[in-house]
Amino acid sequence: MKRIGIIGAMESEVELLKSTLSGCDTREIAHTAFYIGTHGSHELVVACSGIGKVNAACTAQIMIDRLGVDCIINTGIAGGLSDELSVGDVVISSVLSYHDFTLKFLTYRYPFTESFTADNTLIETATDACEHIGNIRYVVKEIVSGDAFVTDSKLKNDIKSRTEAYCVEMEGAAIAHTCAMNDIPFVVIRTISDNADDNAAFSFEQFEKKTAAISAKIVLAMAEHI
Ligand code: ADE
Repeated sequence: MKRIGIIGAMESEVELLKSTLSGCDTREIAHTAFYIGTHGSHELVVACSGIGKVNAACTAQIMIDRLGVDCIINTGIAGGLSDELSVGDVVISSVLSYHDFTLKFLTYRYPFTESFTADNTLIETATDACEHIGNIRYVVKEIVSGDAFVTDSKLKNDIKSRTEAYCVEMEGAAIAHTCAMNDIPFVVIRTISDNADDNAAFSFEQFEKKTAAISAKIVLAMAEHI
């Protein structure tokens, strides 16, 4: 039995997971609720971190230090950056990086300032879960994060010009960063809710719940097959 940490930034991203847990116990640490229960043959620790990089990093570090998780899965929705993707398609992370972290003239590279590679076994478990559920279009590609909800084509194109990422969100790289510093395996699963363009806010509101549930279902299927 493994203890799997699962982080979503918003309630819509964790509600299905919370309601599926058996024998659920709750712990409150740093104003964050951690729901601990079982699913499949594993113990899950589910938390809603709140939006943004710092909330996500703090939640990941608490899961590692205080709740002893063996790995972390970040679940949720994202803005699509690639013309190959539509609302409802899934991006499983290969690599995570920040789109809002620039060192400019600081040429010396400190550790943990570049990109973070997701765990191969977790990536494979995620692709297997998509195949098992069926009817899910997914890619394994780079994801970028930053403290901005991208709702304009200018910023979107700027991010696209600087990265190879297929989608943009606000927590994945911070969770990946925290996991890398602690040698904890991780993967990020994001379903496209909007295209990070001028229409993003409207699309997000319309598809938030439905697309968040797709990622959560993949995570549940992963827990059944890990
Ligand atoms: N999460 C979902 N859509 C997003 C967007 N357009 N920008 C940042 N995070 C998102």
